[in-house]
Amino acid sequence: MFDFDRDAELLAEQCFDFIRNRLRKRPDPVTPPTAAELTRKVGITITPNGIGSTRALELFADVLAPAAIPLDSPKHAALIPGAPTVAAILFDACVSAASLVPEAWIEAAGAIHAENETLSWIASLAGLPKTSGGCFINGGTAGNLSALVTARDAHANGRRRVACSSEAHSSIAKSLHIIGCDPLVVPADEHGRMTGAALRTALAVDGDTATVFAVVASAGATNTGAIDDLASIADVADECDLWFHVDAAYGGAALCAPSARNRFNGIERVDSFIVDPHKWLFGPLDCCALLYREPQRAFAVHRQSASYLDTMRVADGFDPTDYAIHLTRRARGLPLWFSLATHGTDAYRDAVEAVLDNVRAAAAIVRADPKLDLIMEPDLSVLLFRRRGWEEAEYLAWSARLLASGTVFVLPSKWRGETVGRFVFLHPQTSVEMFQQAIDALV
Ligand SMILES: Cc1ncc(COP(=O)(O)O)c(C=O)c1O
Repeated sequence: MFDFDRDAELLAEQCFDFIRNRLRKRPDPVTPPTAAELTRKVGITITPNGIGSTRALELFADVLAPAAIPLDSPKHAALIPGAPTVAAILFDACVSAASLVPEAWIEAAGAIHAENETLSWIASLAGLPKTSGGCFINGGTAGNLSALVTARDAHANGRRRVACSSEAHSSIAKSLHIIGCDPLVVPADEHGRMTGAALRTALAVDGDTATVFAVVASAGATNTGAIDDLASIADVADECDLWFHVDAAYGGAALCAPSARNRFNGIERVDSFIVDPHKWLFGPLDCCALLYREPQRAFAVHRQSASYLDTMRVADGFDPTDYAIHLTRRARGLPLWFSLATHGTDAYRDAVEAVLDNVRAAAAIVRADPKLDLIMEPDLSVLLFRRRGWEEAEYLAWSARLLASGTVFVLPSKWRGETVGRFVFLHPQTSVEMFQQAIDALV
């Protein structure tokens, strides 16, 4: 069962065929089948003797995988899609085959070296010092949680609250709940941004500022793409001795885009920040880059000790497991490393800029259409718009129609309690024409 025998040779060919075909043609998003439909088509697959790899792969290729809205479809313009490069996807398969365990230097020094070069590139985009560092973890939720655990244990000194915007990602409230802390919610302005002035006011009105130990800013917010005013927030963080964390899980990719870079001014002053390469850095799921200005503070908090673990440490080795809430970890930074090494950072800059060009053109379409209102000018690549006179049911029907016709996958959202249209540009091939088709269907 575990040898690479003749059966495995055949299976490898079948799997390579699947991968090749899948990468040649991206399937369109489809309306999900019911569980009963899937049971009828797939039957029982887990049996005492197995159904054989050929049949299992056939079921996966023909029934299970197509029952999906693929992350890499240019027609995915809802939630936060992704657009992994072919290089990153193929190399992800190589990473699985290589069976690396880069929790500690002794186990996978080479992989850790390449991951660290990738982290250094991200840190340099943000303007962090060369002494900054961190690790890759599975996603933005785990990255935010790991940073906030570090902030609580390394900086809180008994304080139990964290300031964040009313537009902060839901993982911040979840993380605070897990670590037993409470939010101080700062109202975002009409552009969806938290400012230093609003933070200062919230702290003053609160009257109990002595209990706040950190501030979490977004760059950009998932619902709106808005980037908080990081420089003025950093000023308040300095004044009030707050740990400054920036959640750039979605928007951090735009650090490499010159046309958007100045909106991030102030990010160089963070204590910690995250970017998810599986969002807009063209990497596959699941991957979050977690960076600390002073990684030794995270090390002091996250390092696990056990008799069997302590003996694996080597002098001068860097052990990524020590910087987040994980132990065993996949080499999930490597697909991004490989893609960056293959294409070069200029290609990343150009791909992000292409997306920003599309969203600017789409915003112009909304501004020019008398039945629409642009809710706010886009900071990044999310567009929120109002179809005048529409209620939630009409937006939901619009979304279902577009999915059923294979046009594009969009979902409405809310802005200040009102249901609005939302379209996310993230795949460089999500075109202005696709956006126009979605707008034309707002009837
Ligand atoms: C701004 C932001 N932070 C955090 C997250 C959570 O990331 P993940 O889904 O990778 O856990 C997301 C996900 O969309 C996000 O957009």
